[in-house]
Amino acid sequence: MASTLSVEHGGAPAGWLELSANLAPHGTPSAVRDAIARSTYSSYADLDPREAERHLARDAGVDPSWLMLTAGATEALRLVTDALLDARDVVLLAGPTYGEYARLAERRGARIDELRARPPRFELRASEIARCAAATRPRLVVVCDPNNPTGRLTGSAALRALARSLPQDAHLVVDESFLPFTEPCQRGVAGHPRAIAVRSLTKVLAIPGIRVGYVVATPALLERLRAVRDPWAVSAQACAAASVASWKVSAAALRDLARWRSATARILRAAGLAPVPSRAPFVLARAGPGARTLVRALARRHVAVRWCASFGLPEHIRVAVRPPDAQTRLAVALRAVRT
Ligand SMILES: Cc1ncc(COP(=O)(O)O)c(C=O)c1O
Repeated sequence: MASTLSVEHGGAPAGWLELSANLAPHGTPSAVRDAIARSTYSSYADLDPREAERHLARDAGVDPSWLMLTAGATEALRLVTDALLDARDVVLLAGPTYGEYARLAERRGARIDELRARPPRFELRASEIARCAAATRPRLVVVCDPNNPTGRLTGSAALRALARSLPQDAHLVVDESFLPFTEPCQRGVAGHPRAIAVRSLTKVLAIPGIRVGYVVATPALLERLRAVRDPWAVSAQACAAASVASWKVSAAALRDLARWRSATARILRAAGLAPVPSRAPFVLARAGPGARTLVRALARRHVAVRWCASFGLPEHIRVAVRPPDAQTRLAVALRAVRT
């Protein structure tokens, strides 16, 4: 059984209600499951990503020379920071946000500047980020859209304008891993010459164990990323999954998600928490000084939610949006621990 600490930082033992990780609530598409099951892995030829890259480029509406398959968004982010950052470069983060951006930039000796959105609504406009970038002259500006853990959306049009406004030697990196879950569908920054779009397929296909994602950037930038990557980084199963994957979520699934997200927010509110409006498949909620105790009490009932202390939000929890049976289990557990 996982320790309480690992539950607080995401991940739940089998049989628990897992609301600490944010995967597509509809599960893995059958075409992706079948492709993984059928994948062959007995020769290096099975690791050739080109067919998958052509397929994903069609799906994303970009030229294949702009797309590189990676071992999850995590590898994409590491390649971006390793290729583009030098010691003492400045990285501007739109916070509070996913901790990997700071960890990877610090590995390179870069200085982190964080522009933090404020509670209770955690809104951050692209124009505020642009003003901050003009003052701090960053090499990279990193925005997660919609943002983990706040669920707030900056929006693709505003981010494209931000990319255009940056100084010539700066790049805008947008982690779009949760963008397919937004309604109405956002275009993203893929194809913009000043932007680097990082996309996890882990979330949208609900396959965290396969390790697959991609990055969209100019061919010249991708050359720089390739120069710092390990050979054969993407597994045969990841290539197989990617060659049938779509980054788009069906309209019916998006409608379900919107309904389930509203229901999750109502359950949290009924338990005395304050949910933040979200465009993502998770909801951030203020639980107050007792947030950690609440996470532990839920864990004793085998319900895993994410305590947000590592995001600098020790009074907040993050709860994944799941179908109605999971919501009922959450509501029952919350009622039990709040009374
Ligand atoms: C915002 C964000 N980006 C990237 C990742 C990692 O994605 P992957 O599993 O594709 O490496 C996560 C994982 O939680 C995440 O929350």
